[in-house]
Amino acid sequence: MKIRKAVFPVAGLGTRFLPATKSCPKETLPLVDKPLIQYVVEEAIEAGIEQIIMITGRAKNAIEDHFDKSVELELLLEGKKDYKRLEMVRRISDMCEICYVRQKEPKGLGHAILKARDVIGDEPFAVILGDDIIHSENNPAIGQLIKVYDEKNAPVIAVQKVPMENVSAYGVIEPKPAGDRVYQILSMVEKPPREKAPSDLAIIGRYILTPEVFDYIEATAPDGRGEIQLTTALDAMLADGAIYACQFTGTRYDAGDKLGFLQATVEYALRSKELGGPFREYLKNLPL
Ligand code: G1P
Repeated sequence: MKIRKAVFPVAGLGTRFLPATKSCPKETLPLVDKPLIQYVVEEAIEAGIEQIIMITGRAKNAIEDHFDKSVELELLLEGKKDYKRLEMVRRISDMCEICYVRQKEPKGLGHAILKARDVIGDEPFAVILGDDIIHSENNPAIGQLIKVYDEKNAPVIAVQKVPMENVSAYGVIEPKPAGDRVYQILSMVEKPPREKAPSDLAIIGRYILTPEVFDYIEATAPDGRGEIQLTTALDAMLADGAIYACQFTGTRYDAGDKLGFLQATVEYALRSKELGGPFREYLKNLPL
């Protein structure tokens, strides 16, 4: 079945990025000149997603405003005959259909996904975490997962090799090779201590899930921090049928982290048609 819908959990408080995120959603922090959330929405659209479901929360109105029509701005740009910017602004609000569901309490990723149940209904869907920005020219990461889903007809999770000293920041899978950059998942665990990690293949924020997942999330008890973990629900769901991991190609940045955000900023600026040249010159001449 075609993957038409994508869920974006955006209710997180962005504490890793305080004080910037005290009044400004982390998803709207700009990477060069576009808010983070627009990068991941564009990735989804490039992969053929038709409807986006944002799981949002308090103080996140700026996200809705960004994707809404801005009549005043359009009139102003039209009056100035600035058709290039007018077209850019219009494209953002015409991008795709977005609906918003509120997650009233921060009870974890699993809980956020469960909020999408009614809007998803009985079809497979994508989940995209906006902290994970993936640069992959003409081959969107979520599209790579959709290809594996089409082949295996089973849920697919994005994974990437990470240094063993970092595994405890991620969900980690126990893999069994099942094709080119594809693994069957034998088990998975959320943020294990290094010595208990089943491999160095970390879960990255892209998933293709089937609607059975909702029952498994519902049956998952909150962890020690009161959060319902998606990884724990998916580990239980392995009893129901195979789940695959796709070791996607592309460069991934943890944009929810200050250092990761800076790395993304530098690399996206260097790739920019408009800014790449002068920015490279600037970096070369820095008296470091
Ligand atoms: C979430 C998931 C985790 C995954 C990570 C990827 O954790 O729970 O399994 O490895 O995203 O970014 P978070 O970073 O939101 O705590």
